[in-house]
This record gives sequence, C-alpha cells and structure tokens, in this order.
Amino acid sequence: MKRKKIIHILNSETPWDNIHIKGWVRTRRSSKGFSFLEVNDGSCLKNVQVVADHSVPNYNDVEKITTGSAVSIFGRLVASPGKGQKWEIHAETVDIISIAPESYPLQKKRHSDEYLRTIGHLRPRTNKYGSVFRIRSEISFAAHQFFRDRGFRYIHSPIITGSDCEGAGEMFRVTALDLENIPKKNGKTDFIHDFFGKEVNLTVSGQLSAEMMALALGDVYTFGPTFRAENSNTARHVAEFWMIEPEMAFCDLEGDMAIAEEFVKYLTAFAMDNCREDLALFSTFVDKTLLATLDTIISSDFLKLPYQEAVDILKNTGKKFEYEINYGNDLQSEHERYLTEEYFKKPVIIFNYPKEIKPFYMRMNNDSKTVAAMDLLVPRIGELVGGSQREERYDVLESRMDELGIAKENYWWYLDSRRFGTVPHSGFGLGFERLLMLITGITNIRDVIPFPRVPGQIEF
Ligand code: 4AD
Ligand code: MG
Repeated sequence: MKRKKIIHILNSETPWDNIHIKGWVRTRRSSKGFSFLEVNDGSCLKNVQVVADHSVPNYNDVEKITTGSAVSIFGRLVASPGKGQKWEIHAETVDIISIAPESYPLQKKRHSDEYLRTIGHLRPRTNKYGSVFRIRSEISFAAHQFFRDRGFRYIHSPIITGSDCEGAGEMFRVTALDLENIPKKNGKTDFIHDFFGKEVNLTVSGQLSAEMMALALGDVYTFGPTFRAENSNTARHVAEFWMIEPEMAFCDLEGDMAIAEEFVKYLTAFAMDNCREDLALFSTFVDKTLLATLDTIISSDFLKLPYQEAVDILKNTGKKFEYEINYGNDLQSEHERYLTEEYFKKPVIIFNYPKEIKPFYMRMNNDSKTVAAMDLLVPRIGELVGGSQREERYDVLESRMDELGIAKENYWWYLDSRRFGTVPHSGFGLGFERLLMLITGITNIRDVIPFPRVPGQIEF
C-alpha cells in the first residue's frame, strides 16, 4: 500500500480504507482506552488526528508516545465527529519508528524567534517555520515559472570569481594557500602559488556572467547564492543570501523597471493564490495587516521617481530623520521606509542616481552626472531590488573604469563584449530573502532562510 502525504489526505473528498501515513507526533492525549495523536509530516501546516484504541496490538506502547516521536500508521480515513477537522484516521496499526525523550525542546508551547534561532536544526519542525520554508519553496518555483513563461533561459553563474562586480570590496576570499606559511613577494602575498594562480573570492553577484550570456541567449536569469562580507548586523542583511538576477538584451532602463514591477507583483499574487493556508498563519500571528499590504502590492502602480525628486521630497517633508539626506548620499533605510510607508504608501522605484554612489557598469546618462540605475523599494523592507541599464559603449565604459581605478586586466572579457555586437541591455537583482520578508511579514531576515550566516555566527 502506497504511503500518503497528509496534505493529500486532508483534501480527500471521500472516506478511504487502507490508508498509510508516516510522520511525527505533535501531541498525544490518552483517556479511557483511547489515544488521540496529532500527526504532522511536513507536507502542510495541518496535522491529521489519529485515533487508536485497544484493537491496536501494541496499544500499551501507544499510550507512552511522546511529542516529537516518529510513527508509521495504517488505518481508515473517516469523517471526524470532532470540531475543527473534516477527517480523522482510525488506526489499525501504529508502528513506533522512534521515541523522542522528554528533553525534546519543542513541547507544545510558543517559543520566541530568538530562542528558535538557537535551535536552528529543529525550528523547521514548528508550525511557523514549516510555513516559511514551504512558502520559500513555492516562490522559488514561481520565479522559474515567471521567466520560463516569458522565454528567459536559466543560467548558472560561477560562485568562485576573480572579479568584484559591485566594486564594494566586501568579499569573502577563497584560498587554498597554507595560512601558516603564506608565500610572499615584496612583502605581499604571492597568489601565483594559490589554486587559481590569482586572488579569488566568493561572488557578490552573478551579473557580469549573466550579461555575457544575455548577449548570446537574449533574455536570461540566474538564481543562486551570493556572499557579502559587509559587517552590518541588521535585520535585513545576511552574509549568504540568494539573488534572482534577470538580464535582458535590447532592453533599456524603462523596460527593466517594468519587468521588475511585473515580477514582484507576480510572485506576490502567486503566494496569495498558492500558499493560502501557510499565509493565513502569518496574517493571524505575525502581521494582521499582511494581506492588505500584499493586495496593495498587486493592485497599485509602482511610483517611479528620479533620485533628485526623492531627495527633494525627503528634504522638504519637515520630518526629522536620524541621518540627514543630501544630494549625493545613499538613501538610508529610514528614508526608504518613509517614502513607501508614509509618503506614497506603496512601492516606489527610484532611478537616475548620482554616478558617485553606484558601480562602474551602470550606463552614464546624458547629464554626465547620473547613471541609469534603479532601486525598487517596498513598505517595511526598503530596498528589494537593485538594477540598471548597463554601459554598452566601449569608450565610456573604459574611461569609467579608469576613473574608478579598476584593474582592467581582470575585466578584459567584459570590455571585449562591448567590442563585438554590443547592444543596450539591462537587468536587476532581487534579494530573495527580502522578498520572503515582504510576503510573510517576518521582520528579521534570519527567520526566512533555514541556516542564516551573519557576522560572528555560523552554527548549523
Ligand atoms: O543592489 P545590489 O547590490 O545589486 C546587485 O548586486 C546587482 N549586481 C544586481 C543586478 O543588477 N544584477 O543587490 C541586489 C539585491 C538588493 O536590492 C537586496 O534585495 C539584496 O540583493 N541584498 C541583500 N539581501 C540580503 N543580505 C544582504 N547582505 C544583501 N545585499 C543585497
Ligand atoms: Mg543596491
């Protein structure tokens, strides 16, 4: 008899004989010769109630089953007379796969997010984190679906790289050198003896590779892990995060902003349509305004605003910010939240940033002061997406690299792409964890990734 997942059983239209499930016991109540087991197998938020009595051969052992124990059950699916569930299983046999001792930390009571982070190996077993990680899986699938429906190709960009895409230098070095015995030349580390014969790092973005692929396949995207050694201990930064990066040939900044908006709306609507039960947990226990916020995202036209105008608004509102904003400064998260939550009350895309605060690859505008960059900001999170039209003109790109003192010999291939069949092209990066924060209402990024990596912590 084939084992069934609980999600499958609970959606059944009819009673069912000869049913087989496996899962973990969330709670057991026993009285007057009956035991009620709440069993969960991770396939959905809900448990199935299993009723066992003396007709089960090992009933004496069933009465000793503890929270967290694993069981395999054969029985019949019948209409439940109890409140709150349509079906229950009347057990014919209950095989005990393993018994969890009383020291199992996840007894039936609510635990704080902070405590659950200290038991990251067990927290996916709670209702809340089970829901987070099921949603994470669904939205990953939705991202692939979105691009596939639009003719994009999925590409894999390298994780170990010799270039610094963002030019921020916040990179994790990868080396096979013996750290106790580092080869030196003129007092400096001589990377010629290292594995690749040069200095390499973990990637901060797959963009530069994606550009090369877009100039061959047209529209492409990456979806992979990226690494940043920023020492920022905030609720919105992790050192290892997943980024979705589309890159489109023959696309300008306007087209880029349009795809970003469509993508964010699509993923939000997908969650609302396909993750109803799990989302209901968040709208009940985490953020009562969640569904209204998600509705706004799906139904509003995102506001598009040049950087200069955003700065003017922030300077003239009369609101006191911790960091004063001036032309030429990056927006702080308090500014981003003010614009999206209080001023416009919807997502905002800011574009045309001063070249000084953006990386070398962004396309220079005619004013020679700003570049064709855009950031998509959303309520509660701030920056969700960063993107740009890329500099496709060889001369302009080269002089920009010179201006910034970038070692061109590491980017000869990047420059080369502007010599052969160069075209206007654009792309963006969406931080997958930040999107999950938006969709679930969870306020700390550490709680939407199974095993977060942050400064000073790499448990699990
Ligand atoms: O704005 P960023 O740095 O853009 C890039 O990396 C471009 N190369 C993308 C491209 O055009 N292909 O990062 C993109 C997004 C941010 O908007 C943010 O959502 C997320 O990645 N992000 C982080 N998420 C979690 N933790 C961090 N430390 C993050 N840094 C960036
Ligand atoms: Mg950015």
